[in-house]
Amino acid sequence: MGKTKSGKATTGADELLKTIFQYIVKISNERDVDKLLVNLADMGRDLVSADRCTVWLVNREAEKIWSKVAHGVDRIEIPLSKGIAGHVAETGEHLVINDAYNDDRFDQQIDIATGYHTRNILALPIEDSKGEIIGVYQAINKVSGNKNFTKKDLEHLLLAASYTGKQLEVLAYAEEIKLTQREIILTLAETGEMRSKETGNHVKRVAEYSEILAEAYGLPSDQVKLLKDASPMHDIGKIAIPDSILLKPGLLTDEERTEMKTHTTLGHDMLKHSDRELLKAAVIVAYQHHEKWDGTGYPRGLKGEEIHIFGRLTAIADVFDALICKRVYKDPWPVDKIIAMFIESKSKDFDPQVVDAFLKVQDKMIKVSVELDDTIS
Ligand code: C2E
Ligand code: SIN
Ligand code: SIN
Ligand code: FE
Ligand code: FE
Repeated sequence: MGKTKSGKATTGADELLKTIFQYIVKISNERDVDKLLVNLADMGRDLVSADRCTVWLVNREAEKIWSKVAHGVDRIEIPLSKGIAGHVAETGEHLVINDAYNDDRFDQQIDIATGYHTRNILALPIEDSKGEIIGVYQAINKVSGNKNFTKKDLEHLLLAASYTGKQLEVLAYAEEIKLTQREIILTLAETGEMRSKETGNHVKRVAEYSEILAEAYGLPSDQVKLLKDASPMHDIGKIAIPDSILLKPGLLTDEERTEMKTHTTLGHDMLKHSDRELLKAAVIVAYQHHEKWDGTGYPRGLKGEEIHIFGRLTAIADVFDALICKRVYKDPWPVDKIIAMFIESKSKDFDPQVVDAFLKVQDKMIKVSVELDDTIS
């Protein structure tokens, strides 16, 4: 209503609040770190009328800061020791630099590489609840007014930074745990497979097959991703099976087969103590990948949908790989024999819907088996 000076100021604050509210819903519901970074950057850009804005996350171990600047573009990273953003991550300073090229801390290499011309920069740290710097908010090139960043802009970005710290902390922590988990799992799974050389790529192929199958079956994308990360663990229990059995060139005796079957319960026992989503999924595939749809599988003789969908999907991925590849104890099967076997075993060994999914994507799976062939790599 007011056309007075103070009325104008209120309008400014209103605009600011409007901008923040526009983003707040998006941001507080975002569970994906990459998307959150892009959203936060967009908010910062609008708040201070910058041409570009980047939210960097600090990775102290790698001595880098990294970010995701746009959807569909890869993450970018720069050393902590380089440039303005790195400087802020190290020192926690709040910087308003209106002549970038006359500032020693500015790294012109980035402009040279991108062909962009940086005039001015606003940068400040994002802190977690303990006051540790976990990221940097960086705005580049003011586009309105006299095209210089002001103290007001700094305050506005600071507001955004203090609001986002908590949100980033939670997600960045979750991200770190996920990455750690994935590393542990791949390392363990590869250790398990290393002992039988010719199946060196078995875990990687099973990850790819299970992803292809899960997608064709229609699992939601987060579940597809989870299974892809967890399925390499299906045979982790084989770590505890002696070489004399694991590497035996011929058929197993009944006694040896009985011992071999314990790789499922061993895998379950090794992993069962974790609360983490990924390890819980790994427990399921390790425990259930040899169960059969008609209840004749092992170790528990689960039947139909008593078997978790992750187990039903990994079962087909695993057997497909065992048949299409050479094993110490068997030669590869021709593809038509494999297809015929799956059709014949539909509703006996395997979930009929997963077999149908397999029949739709068999070509993709064969392609993976060729690309990740053990004899090449
Ligand atoms: P794996 O080599 O990864 O095989 C996984 C599954 O693929 C097998 O589970 C089985 O369901 C299927 N499969 C493999 N080869 C054949 C085959 O020639 N015909 C048919 N119809 N299915 C096949 P399974 O039987 O529970 O075996 C689990 C694991 O035990 C195998 O994992 C392998 O490491 C070992 N194993 C099984 N049989 C033998 C054997 O005769 N000799 C040796 N050395 N190991 C064996
Ligand atoms: C820097 O932090 O010096 C790099 C600025 C930019 O991203 O262009
Ligand atoms: C478990 O919780 O023991 C794994 C899930 C299952 O296989 O039932
Ligand atoms: Fe197995
Ligand atoms: Fe296997």
